[in-house]
Amino acid sequence: MLERRKTAMYKIAVLAGDGIGPEVMAEAVKVLRAVEKKFGLEFEFREGLAGGAAIDVHGMPLPESTVKLCGECDAVLFGAVGGPKWDGVESRLRPERAILGLRKHFGLYANLRPAVLFPPLIDASPLKREIVEELDLLIVRELTGGLYFGTPKGRDESGGKVRAFDTMTYTEHEIERVAHIAFKAAQKRRKRVTSVDKANVLETSRLWREVVEKVAAAYPDVELFHMYVDNCSMQMVINPGQFDVILTENTFGDILSDESAVLTGSIGMLPSASLGDKQPYLYEPTHGSAPDIAGSGRANPIACILSASMMLEYSFGASDAASAIKQAVTRALNGGYRTADIYSGKGRLVSTAEMGDIVVDYI
Ligand code: IPM
Ligand code: MG
Repeated sequence: MLERRKTAMYKIAVLAGDGIGPEVMAEAVKVLRAVEKKFGLEFEFREGLAGGAAIDVHGMPLPESTVKLCGECDAVLFGAVGGPKWDGVESRLRPERAILGLRKHFGLYANLRPAVLFPPLIDASPLKREIVEELDLLIVRELTGGLYFGTPKGRDESGGKVRAFDTMTYTEHEIERVAHIAFKAAQKRRKRVTSVDKANVLETSRLWREVVEKVAAAYPDVELFHMYVDNCSMQMVINPGQFDVILTENTFGDILSDESAVLTGSIGMLPSASLGDKQPYLYEPTHGSAPDIAGSGRANPIACILSASMMLEYSFGASDAASAIKQAVTRALNGGYRTADIYSGKGRLVSTAEMGDIVVDYI
């Protein structure tokens, strides 16, 4: 965490990206502007290109100028990337490479994805009220290892037969450092870590379990459970209340975090923080670029707004401003305001920008 200075001035790299990225980002920036004066903070926003937007201008998803910009900032706020326009480009130039490249470049190995149920949205959840009521979990996803980055990776052809391959690899060190983050997070919550793996099949998972057990010894106040990933994906819908912190590797975390997000009523609500050993950290909504609704004012800006709130907390140590944002979001929802994704016929249907304004009003 950066030391909180008296005149707290921070540079924030703003990478809005594609699809609904720019729309939700505009609302997050609006909300940050609203907490600025009230909490003695001052922000300088510096915009950069990433994803398809960068491909259109520079022919690549993560230009050097964007990496440099992020390196000069205290934190990175990221929107979303991708869309049908760039679906045909070769794999190393895909828009998604922007986010993968940033994670790797800045060593952001721990991705925190909290899934909390906002009580006024309980009926938007696909689960029955009595099952989802207890939902309050945090997924700690390893973010720079596993299948996403393991080598060899590629495709070849021999004798007319095509083959493709990815490699799942983990070192002890990679597991250890993310496990510490999960246990530390659990200490501030309900003190339970469920480590999710596939140790009945995968060698990497067996090492994962071994290392997590060792790390657990340093946190006697935290209870550790192990669970196979297939079982976990099922437990999450039949009894999500049993989970506090879920610790898991990259690919499993990608899948489980979408599942946890939708349990809360909409994937448009869930923020995330990607942390490493040094700043800048990166903050992004867990939803994608939703090209189908881009430009229609239907996107939910709450995930991006809450990501900005995580930034205040984890990068700037401004928990007062961070909770003011969270409370304002809760009050907007309690007030019956709903974007299209969480609108069920009751309350007032509002646009992306209106939701941003309402949150600002409550701050
Ligand atoms: C996520 C996304 C990314 C991932 C994509 C866009 C590369 O799905 O952040 O969950 O797989 O990590
Ligand atoms: Mg994902």
